[in-house]
Amino acid sequence: MPSIVILISGSGSNLQAIIDAVAEKKIAAKISAVISNRPDALGLQRAQSAGINTIIIDHTEFTERQQFDQALAEQVARLNPDLIVLAGFMRILPEAFIEQYQDRILNIHPSLLPEFKGMHTHRRALEAGNRKHGASVHFVSNELDSGPVVIQATVPVLDNDDEKMLAERVLIQEHIIYPLAIQWFTSGRLRLIDNQVYFDNKPVKEIATWKNDTLSLPQ
Ligand code: GAR
Repeated sequence: MPSIVILISGSGSNLQAIIDAVAEKKIAAKISAVISNRPDALGLQRAQSAGINTIIIDHTEFTERQQFDQALAEQVARLNPDLIVLAGFMRILPEAFIEQYQDRILNIHPSLLPEFKGMHTHRRALEAGNRKHGASVHFVSNELDSGPVVIQATVPVLDNDDEKMLAERVLIQEHIIYPLAIQWFTSGRLRLIDNQVYFDNKPVKEIATWKNDTLSLPQ
């Protein structure tokens, strides 16, 4: 059974969606550990309630950034997972780490990439007057919130939306598309080879989309 390590920094609602999908056997994999850089992350409690091994690497306890990176790299190397899942992990991974695991790190970002990389994506989508917004699951490359996109979920921006309402609408969709992409990866349907996404052994020209409760597979 493939093993997954999940990196979090906060609430861990995506983590919960993944835990649930594993429990419901929608994802055939074992979550071997949840690693948090924050000791107070709610996601740690979610993992513990599910009986999953938790590891805290508190970034505030390291004087040099490099020491934190080293501690994280050591833990991940020890676990040697088939897939590393970033689920609201708010630290930038070092280049060497991304290179080492480049074909097996997934991230979810709350925007329709390449739009709105970085923080405050919902606020920026509202400020830009966008009528559509969403979330993207992507393989992780060396630039922030970059790398080949696997699936995007689109939601409408409604007239009276504030940041919180829009964020909640997007988050519901995140909880659908992230377990799906992880299931594809752990079952061998999804691969990254030479920076190209493959689905069912074929190079993907169009990413998967989830819109109005309808899935279109990667083509
Ligand atoms: C999610 O909205 C995720 O897309 C975002 O953080 C939130 C974590 O929520 N990630 C990023 O912004 C990464 N750049 P969660 O802890 O409840 O899953």
